Amino acid sequence: MTEKDFIPKRYSESMEHGSVSWEAPSNIALVKYWGKKEHQIPANPSVSFTLKNCRTITRLDFSKKENQSDFDFEIYFEGNKKEDFKPKIKTFFERIVQYVPFLKEYKFEIHSENTFPHSSGIASSASGMGALALCVVSLEKKLNPEMTEGFFRKKASFLARLGSGSACRSIEGDIVVWGKHKEIQGSSDLFGIKYPDEVHENFKNYQDTILLVDKGTKEVSSSVGHNLMHNHPFAEARFAQAHENLAKLKPVFAEGDLKQFIEIVESEALTLHAMMMSSRPYFILMKPYTLEIINKIWNFRKHTGLPVCFTLDAGANVHVLYPEKDKVKVLEFIKNELVAYCENGHYICDSVGDGAKQLSDDN
Ligand code: PMV
Repeated sequence: MTEKDFIPKRYSESMEHGSVSWEAPSNIALVKYWGKKEHQIPANPSVSFTLKNCRTITRLDFSKKENQSDFDFEIYFEGNKKEDFKPKIKTFFERIVQYVPFLKEYKFEIHSENTFPHSSGIASSASGMGALALCVVSLEKKLNPEMTEGFFRKKASFLARLGSGSACRSIEGDIVVWGKHKEIQGSSDLFGIKYPDEVHENFKNYQDTILLVDKGTKEVSSSVGHNLMHNHPFAEARFAQAHENLAKLKPVFAEGDLKQFIEIVESEALTLHAMMMSSRPYFILMKPYTLEIINKIWNFRKHTGLPVCFTLDAGANVHVLYPEKDKVKVLEFIKNELVAYCENGHYICDSVGDGAKQLSDDN
């Protein structure tokens, strides 16, 4: 498929007003996306676990308007009108309007809320852009009821990508690949797909406990970080490594080899941060407690033999990953030894989920 396949032809229906509502989850990458080309095309493929509990719920109210010269929308977050969210949404609309040309024909009200605290340091852009993209494609489906379920999901992921790259992995569950990889059939730079190959029982309902080490906003945004991969001395080797790690994960997913899984996932997390530390300008997003937690996890794993590991996103928080069967023991370890490093003792218990869900659809 190419971008052109997402440009609609004619719509068979018209719609005066209505409302659609979706919830979309956050996701955590195992092989990381870091570095992009124009139009949010990733420099390397990535794979993620879709989460279950960290979600954004968005309702899009729409009514037809006379003047079609510009976008017309208001955004409410957790009940409050948010003027400061508008520029980001406007940029998103500008990027996607050629694929959903009806955007200027409607006046919109966007009502959004997160199931996780806004100031948790958890990026809400993946779940937020995912939910909004799904609402927009839902409206398009009303104008073109023939749209198939498969195309619907691809288009939602395609649009979400234009909002925030990793958001394209927040439509499907439970494992999602984004970025063309020669050994993964159907993989594309344009949208995320559900991982199509065999997945062992060990990974079913995998747990992710998110330790909130630093709830503040990041000093360096992801978009700045991605851009620093241009002219990065290790960029080409890093992009090649991501391809290799994804290829290595295939037999790991199929056979349930947790030892290999841990090695790949932890190495990916540290490599992501190594890229930040070796870019110009260089920067560090980990905090002292991030390292304390990593060391505690390594000690715990060594002494108990339990397959618990960590990953990081572009921040100081630590995602602790482990199989469901070890939940009781690992949670006890987290409570006894790791919670002390969390800001105000806060952490979020999550696990792998099935992807976005439609909540309502009223005309
Ligand atoms: O989607 P963005 O532009 O916020 O970038 C996300 C980058 C990482 O979270 C660090 C890695 C990833 O693949 O999600």
